[in-house]
Amino acid sequence: MDMFTVHLDPGRKQPLYDQLYMHIKREIESGHLSYGTRLPSKRKLAGYLRISQNTLETAYQQLVAEGYVEAVPKRGFFVSKTDEVLRIGAEAPIPALRMLSMDTDAIVPRYDFSPTSIDLDVFPFTVWKKLAKETIQSEHKSLLQLGHPQGDERLRSTISQYLYYSRGVSCTPEQIIVGAGTESLFQLLLQILGRDNSFAVENPGYYRMYRILRSYGIDVQLLPLDEEGVDVAQLADGRSNIVYTTPSHQFPMGMVMPVNRRMRLLQWVNERDGRYIIEDDYDSEFRYSGKPIPSLHGMDSSGKVIYIGTLSKPLSPSLRISYMVLPGRLLEVYRTHYISYASTVSRIDQHVLYQFIKEGHFEKHLNKMRRIYKRKRDRLVAAVRRFPQPVDIIGENAGLHLLLKVRNGLSEEELVSLAKGAGIKVYGISGYCFEPVPEGSDPVILLGFAGLSEADIDAAARILEQAWFSVEPPSNKA
Ligand SMILES: Cc1ncc(COP(=O)(O)O)c(C=O)c1O
Repeated sequence: MDMFTVHLDPGRKQPLYDQLYMHIKREIESGHLSYGTRLPSKRKLAGYLRISQNTLETAYQQLVAEGYVEAVPKRGFFVSKTDEVLRIGAEAPIPALRMLSMDTDAIVPRYDFSPTSIDLDVFPFTVWKKLAKETIQSEHKSLLQLGHPQGDERLRSTISQYLYYSRGVSCTPEQIIVGAGTESLFQLLLQILGRDNSFAVENPGYYRMYRILRSYGIDVQLLPLDEEGVDVAQLADGRSNIVYTTPSHQFPMGMVMPVNRRMRLLQWVNERDGRYIIEDDYDSEFRYSGKPIPSLHGMDSSGKVIYIGTLSKPLSPSLRISYMVLPGRLLEVYRTHYISYASTVSRIDQHVLYQFIKEGHFEKHLNKMRRIYKRKRDRLVAAVRRFPQPVDIIGENAGLHLLLKVRNGLSEEELVSLAKGAGIKVYGISGYCFEPVPEGSDPVILLGFAGLSEADIDAAARILEQAWFSVEPPSNKA
C-alpha cells in the first residue's frame, strides 16, 4: 500500500499517535487492510500526513506490540494474520446487496406461471438494436439534454394516434405524460389530484396501487367484484370520489367489464363534480375473443376518466415506459404546479420507441405477440380442460394470465404448496386480496402464461395435474 488518508485532529485531546494507531487498527479489523499488506514507509507517511516521524513510529510500534502488525527488518511493516481473533466485536460487515424481489423462495421453480412475465424470446432485438444504434449518433446529440417534462412531443404524438386507433382514446399529445412506469405516473397523479379525495379500488386488485395509497396514509374503500367486475352500486354511499379500475381485463380476476357496467360507472362519475375514474388499461392489447370494447376513456365525453397505459406488456417491463392521459382540468393543475418535474424516462429510449412506432414495427410486433400469446393461452386452456376433475377457467378472454377455480377439496395453500413441491410456481388469489378471503370460498389460482413456451405450458400443466389430482383431498382421508 502506497499511502492512506486519515484525518488527524491536533485539536483533540487524544494524542496524534493514538488517533493514527486507532485508525489503522480499525482498518485491519474491518478487513480493509488485509493480511500481508505492507504499510507505507514511516518517512513517506509522516511527510504525507504532516506529522513527525516519532509520532508515526509510536503508532506503528503500538500496532506491533498488540500483534496487528509485524516489523520485518529492512523491508517494513506488514499486517499480521490475526483475522479470526480481531474480528470479534468488529462492526458487522455490510451484507451484499441482493436483488429486490417479491419472491423469497430459495428454490428456483422449474416452471413459473408468473403474471408479470412476458415472452423474452420474441423481443424485436434486431430492429431495436438498429434503432438504438441510429439514435446514438452525434446528429441526435440534442437528446442528451433534458427534454419536455411530459416526454418528447413526437413520441406523445405517436402514442396519441396509437391510442385513438387501438383503444378509442381521443386525446391530444398535450394531454399525455410519459413516465417510468404506472406506479410513478400514479404518484404524480396523486399530487395533481390533491389532498381532499377518497379512493376506491377493486378487491382483489393491483397491489402496487393499493400500497401507494396506503403509504400516503389514504383510507381506501375496497370494492368487491362480481363476474362483471366492479358494481357501481358499491359506490352509492358516496364514500369515495375516485375509483381506480382495470375494466378491460380486471387485475387479477381477469373479467372484462361489459358495456352496460361501463356506462353505469360513467354515469356515476358524471353525477358529481370532483369525481374521477382512473382507468388502468395495462394489457388491453391482448384480447382473444369477443367484440373489442372501447376503453372507458373512449366512452367518456366529459373529461372524467384518467387513462393509464404501459409498454410493459407489449414490449418489456424493464423498459419502464408508460403513459397517462390527463383530462383538461387536471392538465391545467399539472401545468401550473408540476411541470417543473423532469421527465422520468430517458430521451434515448423515448426516441428509439418513437422510431419503433413510427416505422410500423410496433404494430407488426403487436400482431405477432397477439398470435403467440393466443396460442399459449389456447394451449393452457386445452391442458386444463384435460384435468380429471372440472376446474373453472376464469378471465381467459384477454391479457397474459388466467385463473383456475379448483374444486378438488384442496385449499389454496395446499394447491400452491403441492405445485411448489413439483417444481411449479403458481399464484394464489389471496396474495392479491386486501382483506382475508372469506372462509369456504373455492380456491383460485392465477397462472401467467406469457413467459413459458408452449411446450413448457404442456409439461407444467401435466405436472400440475399429477400434483393436484393424484392426492386424496383431506375430507376423504380417514
Ligand atoms: C394492473 C397492472 N397495471 C399496470 C401494470 C404495469 O405497470 P408498469 O407500467 O409500472 O410496468 C401491471 C403489470 O403487471 C399491472 O398488472
